[in-house]
Amino acid sequence: MSKVYTVAVLVGSLRKQSINRKVALALAELAPANLRLNIVEIGDLALYNEDIDVTPPAAYSTFRDQVSSSDAVLFVTPEYNRSVPAPLKNAIDVGSRPYGKSAWSGKPGAVISVSPGAVGGFGANHHLRQSLVFLDVPCMQQPEAYLGGAGSAFDEAGKLSEKVRPFLQGFIDAYAKWVEQHKKS
Ligand SMILES: Cc1cc2nc3c(=O)[nH]c(=O)nc-3n(C[C@H](O)[C@H](O)[C@H](O)COP(=O)(O)O)c2cc1C
Repeated sequence: MSKVYTVAVLVGSLRKQSINRKVALALAELAPANLRLNIVEIGDLALYNEDIDVTPPAAYSTFRDQVSSSDAVLFVTPEYNRSVPAPLKNAIDVGSRPYGKSAWSGKPGAVISVSPGAVGGFGANHHLRQSLVFLDVPCMQQPEAYLGGAGSAFDEAGKLSEKVRPFLQGFIDAYAKWVEQHKKS
């Protein structure tokens, strides 16, 4: 049997009814058999502060362990004011420390931005990629994934729209190949 890769999924919205969380869960269901997606929670991470990191809070350590022990990282995020929502940027910063022991380094990554708006979170998607360059996350380039008009991606019962399903399927299938090609040796 081929290897199963574990993927730490970070959702950039903390909202209970988050469309991004629904998309993350849909991707977990659509993922091919060699990818196992697990949402890593980021809502309990204190705002990053080097002073408190002298003795890392338990939430920091747990988060770092969850990312470090995963084979790959997937970001599913809304756009806030044309950029990355603060909780997600905070999680990226927490995972990047202590200096020299970044949890992100070398993990194959991908970004999908999701918005009810027409632009599909393009600004957040690309600002996030800027951090991933520095953090040495080989980030999938194609297919780009900006899911606009996402207010209608799920019906009231939470079922994924058949119009959106092929887009998400194509994205996660391509990402599975990306992870296989760029896995950390
Ligand atoms: C503080 C704030 C800023 C926002 N800025 C943008 C934005 O720049 N672009 C955009 O498309 N949507 C923006 N939105 C709308 C979000 O895309 C929308 O609330 C979306 O549903 C959030 O994702 P979620 O459903 O996963 O929580 C913003 C929402 C908030 C709360």
